[in-house]
Amino acid sequence: MRNLLITGGAGFIGSNFVHYMLETHADYRIVVFDKLTYAGRRENLERVAANPRFHFVQGDICDMQAVRAAVREHNIDTIVNFAAETHVDRSIMAPDAVVTTNVKGTWTLLEVARETGLERFHQISTDEVYGAIPAPRRSREGDPLEPRSPYSASKAGAEHLVYAYFITYGLPVTTTRGSNNIGPYHYPEKAVPLFTTNAIDNLPLPIYGDGLQVRDYQYVLDHCEAIDTVLHHGQLGEVYNVGTEVETPNIEMAHKILDLLGKPHSLIQHVTDRAGHDRRYALDCSKLRALGWQSRHSFDEALEKTVRWFVANEAWWRPIKSGEYLEYYRRQYEERGA
Ligand code: NAD
Ligand code: TYD
Repeated sequence: MRNLLITGGAGFIGSNFVHYMLETHADYRIVVFDKLTYAGRRENLERVAANPRFHFVQGDICDMQAVRAAVREHNIDTIVNFAAETHVDRSIMAPDAVVTTNVKGTWTLLEVARETGLERFHQISTDEVYGAIPAPRRSREGDPLEPRSPYSASKAGAEHLVYAYFITYGLPVTTTRGSNNIGPYHYPEKAVPLFTTNAIDNLPLPIYGDGLQVRDYQYVLDHCEAIDTVLHHGQLGEVYNVGTEVETPNIEMAHKILDLLGKPHSLIQHVTDRAGHDRRYALDCSKLRALGWQSRHSFDEALEKTVRWFVANEAWWRPIKSGEYLEYYRRQYEERGA
């Protein structure tokens, strides 16, 4: 493993992974393959733009010829597939893009991986494929997949294809199912960066329903380390959960953001709930820990680092919160009563 194609590498987790891998593995060459949708941003990769071991290709993972050309030209031996439409609310408003990119795009990558005989195909999946998990249960990797949103259903569909290529064609695959990530370069449509940037501007924090939905918020670099661990020590054909196993209700997360910024709790505004909102996700991550990985950041540390990053990097997020974003925000939140 030396020449990695990181699809979706201009997005939130992908760009953090690119930084992490270039710093951690001095002999790896990284090619980012990214369509640059609204969520993909070249500036996320500015820090590594001049690195001779880094290369950027703009392309769509559904475009087989473009994927094949990138793999051949750069002598790729490993694909790590982050590329996806990732926002549950957008997937509810417009499901076509999630099905196309997340299912057909993953299939396209698998086909190219198969024909070029890659060393590894790693799929980035999500804890959302398990569906809502009643307490006190925790999801283990062998549990049934019961996705309930267009986003999570498309990610489960992609995973099934990945496994099918392992069984049918012997493609060397691994998969990680991560919980909610937080950290630098997080697009401010997701709850933590949205609440943080709204709070900085003294705008309301729109909490869906009662805010007692539970998520496991992990620091993005912990997730990156986990993917690296699975790439080097994971077993082919296997899936690994990645999270902190700490459960945080959304309302508590919102209160903590306000406290970190010294803003009043009165900024919290309860709005109409998300359709089919999964009440709780909870992972059992013992299988990954057995490979030697452990989460390094507590929830409070992860949240504090994240909030501090957004305070220090207004130049990154202010331009995003304009144009298309404001149109999306109006459509998404006006009808919720925000
Ligand atoms: P993101 O939305 O920030 O970035 C997605 C990236 O994919 C963008 O750079 C975008 O331009 C690119 N992309 C989208 N469609 C593409 C296409 N057709 N061809 C090429 N590139 C395309 O997403 P993220 O939060 O960084 O998530 C990355 C991956 O991790 C996704 O697969 C997601 O399902 C998974 N995941 C995310 C989380 C989370 O909390 N954010 C948790 C678990 C798993
Ligand atoms: P999000 O960041 O969209 O991630 P996911 O839905 O993939 O878990 O949302 C995290 C939680 O926050 C989820 O329970 C939905 C909730 N939420 C709100 O309450 N208000 C919001 O404006 C958003 C975007 C999310």
